[in-house]
Amino acid sequence: MHSFDKDADHVAVDKVLSYARERLLMDPIPLDGAQTEDYLRSAAGQTITAAGLGSTRAMELFEHTLAPACLSTDHPRYLSFIPCAPTREAAAFDVVVGASSIYGGSWMEGAGAVYAENQALRWISDLAGLPESAGGVFVPGGTVGNLSALVVARHTARAKAKEAGTGARPYRIAATDNAHSSVVSMAAVMDAEVCGVHVDDKLRLTGAELRKTLEENGPETFFAVVATSGTTNFGVVDDLASVAEVCREYGLWLHVDGAYGGAGLAAPSVRHLFDGIEHADSFIVDPHKWLFAPFDCCALIYREPELARIAHTQEAGYLDVITKSAEWNPTDYSIGLTRRARGLPLWYSLAVHGTDAYVEAIESTLEVTRFAADEIGRRDYLEAVREPDLSVVVFRRLGWGPEDYQAWTDRLLAEEFAFVVPTTFRGETLTRFAIVNPHTTKEDVNAILDTMV
Ligand SMILES: Cc1ncc(COP(=O)(O)O)c(C=O)c1O
Repeated sequence: MHSFDKDADHVAVDKVLSYARERLLMDPIPLDGAQTEDYLRSAAGQTITAAGLGSTRAMELFEHTLAPACLSTDHPRYLSFIPCAPTREAAAFDVVVGASSIYGGSWMEGAGAVYAENQALRWISDLAGLPESAGGVFVPGGTVGNLSALVVARHTARAKAKEAGTGARPYRIAATDNAHSSVVSMAAVMDAEVCGVHVDDKLRLTGAELRKTLEENGPETFFAVVATSGTTNFGVVDDLASVAEVCREYGLWLHVDGAYGGAGLAAPSVRHLFDGIEHADSFIVDPHKWLFAPFDCCALIYREPELARIAHTQEAGYLDVITKSAEWNPTDYSIGLTRRARGLPLWYSLAVHGTDAYVEAIESTLEVTRFAADEIGRRDYLEAVREPDLSVVVFRRLGWGPEDYQAWTDRLLAEEFAFVVPTTFRGETLTRFAIVNPHTTKEDVNAILDTMV
């Protein structure tokens, strides 16, 4: 398998790259969809065998059986969860990252990649108004980003308490019910406790409610506050300025989860919603959500990266050559050691197109979202639950129950027309558009709404 046979190697590589090329340039993209395991077993059979299938058969299986059994999250009418709509350049460059065997964990091994990734992080950090000294790392996703940041928050709070001799051992995180599910999951991983804060009438975390929760539960028991800049279900941006003020007053770490919505920082029409983010101690945004990078990529940024380095650096004799150096080693800023240079597809696309193109693309999705909200308001069989802050719009079809929404979703998917799933809020079944794909048009929105008459 590792013997060098120039002709055979060319054929094997070309087979894979020509599929990648075709998929990257496909227009239109088929929506596709999951198949049952029984179907896949009968269509694909046993794919791992002692003798191997050979590249022709293996590629054929992928192209004709396995790939069509995966939804295309970059389809313009895929509006569920949070879609992934990479630029052509970002998606293509992911192939280069895989091909180049770059180790992205240390400067010693991946200086060029780390330099480039850090410039992409700098752009995001500057959008948030964080200081020049801020920095971080690209991690696989928002979940790992939230966990890594909260580990630093707790480590820092406990070190401070120890130094002050207070005997406090903070174990709580303050967040609202609207914070992403990963916050509760990651708190469980850390054996920390999430303490709920009430939202205001706009579904936001505010400083006033945060203060109440801290006072009722003992501020010394908390090590972090998680605010969200773009909740997943509704796209709500918390009142970051008032939350930051209370965090400052109580000496609490402010983590801002902008996994989905953080990209809105680049859009002048909504930038004001993020005021206060410049006070964050840590911040995440997933470029695989609304910054047009392929899976999987989360930018994790710390105001004081040194605190993260202290909390996360792994010590081992064989790593001394890296950890004892003064260089920037991305692996020291999050959980995990080995790392793919997963920020490079974003970097490449940013380098090619420039940041203005990003501003324009994000604004274009916001415009389509506002159009969707207007259309929903105009149609007498629909009702918006809330005006969108960012690019998520949640609405009800008057007269429908949970089964109607599900049947509609199933029908649109079976016809490979669109993928729009129901959501729930306060016990009610609703539906939701998440518009982060610049290829999603007003016509797409109208066509989907027409199917709900
Ligand atoms: C606000 C928010 N935070 C965290 C996450 C988790 O991110 P990931 O799925 O990349 O782990 C999501 C995912 O949708 C999210 O919307």
